[in-house]
Amino acid sequence: MDKFIKNKLKDLKLSNNYRVRRPRDSGNSHIFIYKKKEYLSFASNDYLSLSNDKRVINSAKKALEKYGYSTSSSALISGFTKAHYKLEEELSDFLGQEKTLLFSTGYQANLGVIKSLVSRSDNIISDQLNHASLIDGSILSRAIFKRYKHSDINDLEHVLSSLDKNKKKLIISDSLFSMDGDIAEIKKINTKANKYKALLLIDEAHALGVHGKDGRGIVNNLKLNNKKNIFITGTFGKSFGTFGAFFSGRSDYVEYVMQKSRSYIYSTSLPANAVEATRRSLKIIKNETWRREKLFSLIKYFRKNIRSMDYQVLNSDSQIQIILICDTKKALYVSEKLLKHGIYLPAIRPPTVEEGKARLRISLTVDHEESDIDYLLNILDTIYKKSCTILK
Ligand SMILES: Cc1ncc(COP(=O)(O)O)c(C=O)c1O
Repeated sequence: MDKFIKNKLKDLKLSNNYRVRRPRDSGNSHIFIYKKKEYLSFASNDYLSLSNDKRVINSAKKALEKYGYSTSSSALISGFTKAHYKLEEELSDFLGQEKTLLFSTGYQANLGVIKSLVSRSDNIISDQLNHASLIDGSILSRAIFKRYKHSDINDLEHVLSSLDKNKKKLIISDSLFSMDGDIAEIKKINTKANKYKALLLIDEAHALGVHGKDGRGIVNNLKLNNKKNIFITGTFGKSFGTFGAFFSGRSDYVEYVMQKSRSYIYSTSLPANAVEATRRSLKIIKNETWRREKLFSLIKYFRKNIRSMDYQVLNSDSQIQIILICDTKKALYVSEKLLKHGIYLPAIRPPTVEEGKARLRISLTVDHEESDIDYLLNILDTIYKKSCTILK
């Protein structure tokens, strides 16, 4: 083995940051089957439990029959079907935006959009806890990249006021932070964006489907959709239970991103079966309010019960609940112990989160029951009591 790589891999192992994959042999619900054993999972982003929904699956099957598997081309050559066209229209209507452009993944959407919106000497002002794809897109754009402290509007203002007035500015934030579960103060961020004539890009990946009326997201809920300076990206790999992503906003900008975005132009478009599955999912998201009601009742139940326990829990009213363990080794230990008790909940470690802030990221979904939360919390409690010397 190459010596350099060997040492790098060794370092990762020594720092407890070496990753392994566990090949799942089941669908993606709250049940995770691994090596023929069934685990209760709190590690899926399928918040509305739609990835195994028969209606979604049947829509995908029908599209497979009609369009075949691959689109065999990028959208600008021959990879754009009537299904893609319809989903773009339906999403624009759902989000209350002028125009939408489908991307193959959220990662690609953020890379392509950011690079199209700003260029070399422009300014990007980014929340410190933004998703990796937003950070990577910012770096790729070669714009001047500044971060403000997480959700700190005063710091945002401080950064904005230090920038050249004549240069373009793009503020970027997740709407629901994926590893903390808290929601950005988008209204306040937009007030600053207006004051400093900045564009605003909000990544609604984790909010769509769950938050806002009919799951239309936080931007829509704040009536900040259809604004000249605000754009959103999102992925279908979470609440939609499907695959793919999009960029949405005023039509001239969306059209421009379509012309300029290299991750759009030079990549095979989404398979039509993923598109049709997403169209079906979108209908369910709009119509089945009971899913959000159930999820929010589970969130409330979790919050009520975790309060009495001796864990450091982040402030979150969302389906993403965080128990801070801090030390990476300890977080791995708790996660392994949970696995032994039939619970699948991988530890979240650096570099996904800051050094010293390893955690358990508990993802609640519609298919969970209160009894599942009881089981998780009871096991956590026994691990804590049995191993408090290790955990403290
Ligand atoms: C906030 C955020 N943005 C973008 C992405 C990327 O989306 P995708 O998985 O479709 O590439 C993710 C998913 O991991 C995410 O959490």
